[in-house]
Amino acid sequence: MTSDPEFPDDFRADLANLFLWRRDVRRFKPMPLPEGALERLLDISSIAPSVGLSQPWRFVMVESAGCRAAVRTCFERCNAEALASFGGERAALYARLKLAGLNEAPCQFAVFADRTTQQGHGLGRLTMPATIEYSAVMAIHTFWLAARAEGIGMGWVSILDPAEMATIMDAPPEWTLIGYFCVGYPCENHSLPELEREGWEVRRASIVIRR
Ligand SMILES: Cc1cc2nc3c(=O)[nH]c(=O)nc-3n(C[C@H](O)[C@H](O)[C@H](O)COP(=O)(O)O)c2cc1C
Repeated sequence: MTSDPEFPDDFRADLANLFLWRRDVRRFKPMPLPEGALERLLDISSIAPSVGLSQPWRFVMVESAGCRAAVRTCFERCNAEALASFGGERAALYARLKLAGLNEAPCQFAVFADRTTQQGHGLGRLTMPATIEYSAVMAIHTFWLAARAEGIGMGWVSILDPAEMATIMDAPPEWTLIGYFCVGYPCENHSLPELEREGWEVRRASIVIRR
């Protein structure tokens, strides 16, 4: 685009609504994504900011039943360990939460960050190598919002063992697992996080400190 676009008030109001209604989704309708939707969302993700324009995100589409079953097994073990780490009422509440949509989501992928990428020639990451992982998160968030704008939901699953996931995905050792993602049409839409609705945590204003 060469001409300077305008973002009128109506657009900003819609954008604020998009931010408000983006949800971590764990309940998906069984219908697949329409033809071309995934490719479009991946294209949009590719314009996310990245350190030194390194674009270190690596999307690994998980399509085979075998791979998906292995991810489910990994999740179930990690989730059982997480449950055991809580006590009393927290444990009871945790046990009631739905923390993944691995059985239902029609589209699933892992995202890794490639710390060894030469793209970007190392700019910006010499003293802060974690900027490679931060950059991958930018692509994920871009995907998340763009998907929501199309009525498509996404859920982030981190209750996983990164080493086991790298083996399942056959990922090179220099890639860091950022997360596993379930994508599809949500069964329901909410302006409040599920964890807030279930009484696990409440959303607060950002913490700001002035020096
Ligand atoms: C880095 C990261 C990891 C997350 N891992 C999980 C997860 O393993 N399981 C889960 O149910 N939600 C996970 N979430 C989703 C959060 O619980 C969710 O974003 C938060 O409760 C706020 O809800 P919202 O995204 O709907 O606003 C993760 C989110 C982020 C950003």
